[in-house]
Amino acid sequence: MNSLEGLPVAYFSEHDSADVVVGQNVNAKNERLRQVMDSVTRHLHAAIKEIEPTQEEWFEAIQFLTKTGHMCDDWRQEYILLSDVLGVSMLVDAINSRRPVGASENTVLGPFHVGDSPEYEMGTNICLDQKGEDMIVRGRVLDVDGNPLAGVKIDVWQANDEGFYDVQQKGIQPDFNLRGVFRTGEDGTYWFKAVRPKHYSIPDDGPVGALLEQLGRHPYRPAHLHYILSKDGYDTVTTHIFDPDDIYINNDAVFGVKESLIAEFVKVEDEARIKEAGFTNAYYWDVDFDFVLAPKS
Ligand code: BEZ
Ligand code: FE
Repeated sequence: MNSLEGLPVAYFSEHDSADVVVGQNVNAKNERLRQVMDSVTRHLHAAIKEIEPTQEEWFEAIQFLTKTGHMCDDWRQEYILLSDVLGVSMLVDAINSRRPVGASENTVLGPFHVGDSPEYEMGTNICLDQKGEDMIVRGRVLDVDGNPLAGVKIDVWQANDEGFYDVQQKGIQPDFNLRGVFRTGEDGTYWFKAVRPKHYSIPDDGPVGALLEQLGRHPYRPAHLHYILSKDGYDTVTTHIFDPDDIYINNDAVFGVKESLIAEFVKVEDEARIKEAGFTNAYYWDVDFDFVLAPKS
């Protein structure tokens, strides 16, 4: 049975509302939970005092959260999307991935990673649907002193030329289209072929999409490639590289862009280089981007 011992009187007043509520948490069985709920309660009461919602407005907020919950299943996580568009996912990530200057920065994981992507030889073309503009992505993985790192697992994934991930279009795109795992060799280099990514909308057919619409916000993410880089003894980097020429580069719907993650997409039209790369179109995009892993913190 929960104890009444030590509990203060809990008569409610508008003025002391937060104190009255958090006062009842003194016998919490978990100190961290108490700290979290006290903080959430105090901030929520402060917001309600500032907003002074009508009963109808408060019920609308409750309905929004109810719809958000109803939208969730094994595949769709509308609460994470809400956290993303409020910038909270990025804030939690920033707090948990503080790194030395020069180390690659994290950004949001997003919902489209799969754990069992095929592992390929360096240089493999991960585009399996033959759509889009050819691209070579290459670079080095280094430690903070500039030494090449061998044996780094590089897990990459991106949307196709129409702005959809394979997992959003099962039966339309080939399975594992535009995703794969590579491992760096002794020189720390990596390279693979793909197609230039396009911007796309985050899932906007639920309550979060409706909220963005009401706020006059768009649901788009600038074109990017996702990476997870991991090696024993080093902080895993979950990140993207971004296309600087994308119209949404300065206004990502989920605030994932960091300046250090903006790459350069160089158009290669030289016939000899196109041939050497094994492409047959009039040009390809060359993206050269290095990553720096920090020792495990
Ligand atoms: C993504 O980049 O895949 C993503 C991130 C956050 C929300 C939706 C998609
Ligand atoms: Fe993405």
